[in-house]
Amino acid sequence: MRRKNLQMIALLLTGVVCLVIIMNKNDFEHDVTLKNKDVYEMLRQQNDLPSFETLQPLSSHCHRNMSAYNVTGFSALPNHIQDFLLYRHCRSFPMLLDVPNKCGGPQNSADVFLLLVIKSSPENYDRREVLRKTWAKERLHKGVWIRRVFITGTSKTGFEKRRLNKLLKLENSENQDILQWDFNDSFFNLTLKQILFLEWMERWCPHVRFLLNGDDDIFANTFNMVEYVQGQKGNDGSKHLFTGHLIQNVGPIRQRSSKYFVPVQVQESESYPPYCGGGGFLLSGFTAKTIYKMSHSIDLLPIDDVYMGMCLEKAGLKPTSHFGVRTTGLNVPSENVDKFHPCFYREIILVHRFLPHMIFVMWNEIQNPNLQCGRTNSTFKN
Ligand SMILES: *[C@@H]1O[C@H](CO)[C@@H](O)[C@H](O)[C@H]1NC(C)=O
Ligand SMILES: *[C@@H]1O[C@H](CO)[C@@H](O)[C@H](O)[C@H]1NC(C)=O
Ligand SMILES: *[C@@H]1O[C@H](CO)[C@@H](O)[C@H](O)[C@H]1NC(C)=O
Ligand SMILES: *[C@@H]1O[C@H](CO)[C@@H](O)[C@H](O)[C@H]1NC(C)=O
Ligand SMILES: *[C@@H]1O[C@H](CO)[C@@H](O)[C@H](O)[C@H]1NC(C)=O
Repeated sequence: MRRKNLQMIALLLTGVVCLVIIMNKNDFEHDVTLKNKDVYEMLRQQNDLPSFETLQPLSSHCHRNMSAYNVTGFSALPNHIQDFLLYRHCRSFPMLLDVPNKCGGPQNSADVFLLLVIKSSPENYDRREVLRKTWAKERLHKGVWIRRVFITGTSKTGFEKRRLNKLLKLENSENQDILQWDFNDSFFNLTLKQILFLEWMERWCPHVRFLLNGDDDIFANTFNMVEYVQGQKGNDGSKHLFTGHLIQNVGPIRQRSSKYFVPVQVQESESYPPYCGGGGFLLSGFTAKTIYKMSHSIDLLPIDDVYMGMCLEKAGLKPTSHFGVRTTGLNVPSENVDKFHPCFYREIILVHRFLPHMIFVMWNEIQNPNLQCGRTNSTFKN
């Protein structure tokens, strides 16, 4: 009797181990095919598991570049950089969620004046919700249309990944504002995300006039933004515009510990071209299309805003500086002054790093008709 129990336990444990191996293989290594169908089916009958076929890697998934292993010093590089080198050439991923009609179809897309393109990770549900009802609300303002899309990949693996995908699917059926591709939504895949968006835009919104490209933790004064862009005399979106927090005369960070670490194996050159900080920048439809064209012949670089700068440089275009874009935050005159005073946010068009609840408060305050802001006196009082 005891022996039988032990055997049962051993069998059960083997099953669990097999299952874990099968599931991990599928999610971590797209290029490994599941072979043990019989074992899986046996376990599936006893558990609530998806069918074997739905776990099969998609054939369009891209394979590792084995030559990357031969790069000098490869094995000493941090994991995410090794990963980047192995999959650097992959630019095509299946779409999981789409909103092809976002701009009313390619022919009508010139009717969209400002498309808000917001980089978001699957788990950032609260940020997306607050943006939907504040600065990223789709609306007609001063006679022109503002539209919104969130661009995202996938997070986690296995059940957790499927659960987050369900969340996004629900959000999309309610709001029609999510573009999702089946790639790991990691910091070093941000350039890939941008390129996939530009490819999508060329197909579905080729005539959109202007775009705001930014993170989901910014506060953007989209009223000011529309006015600023409308003030671009002679540019209806068909000419160059690329403006934001301009960064010049910098190069790759070579410190291993930095989030932005780019080793020589990824980029040899010690300098970056001028670019605008990726927290948020404004660009014309013309410039977005030009960047996409240039990207075909430039190897991906993991830092997405620098990559945009490289594409601009190749096209002979220059990014410019906009005083109202503060991706590093605001310079508040003194410590006694509330840096969240709405008067600071009346003048700007974009500030980085806002918590969702502060976005909500600020969005309402800047629209308060009783708000009194002296233009020359920055010591605001309530
Ligand atoms: C890696 O380098 C070795 C030795 O030079 C060579 O034989 C091999 O073909 C290389 N592998 C790849 C995938 O380039
Ligand atoms: C694969 O990696 C090697 C070494 O980094 C690189 O020279 C080569 O261009 C890569 N191949 C592709 C298809 O990207
Ligand atoms: C995604 O990338 C991050 C950073 O490189 C890594 O920690 C994580 O394990 C990756 N997730 C998957 C599912 O590959
Ligand atoms: C980018 O996403 C692909 C697909 O999920 C993944 O294979 C690769 O490891 C990711 N790259 C990085 C640097 O996270
Ligand atoms: C700014 O406002 C404060 C408080 O109302 C006042 O004390 C100060 O004199 C003003 N400064 C200027 C330059 O107007």
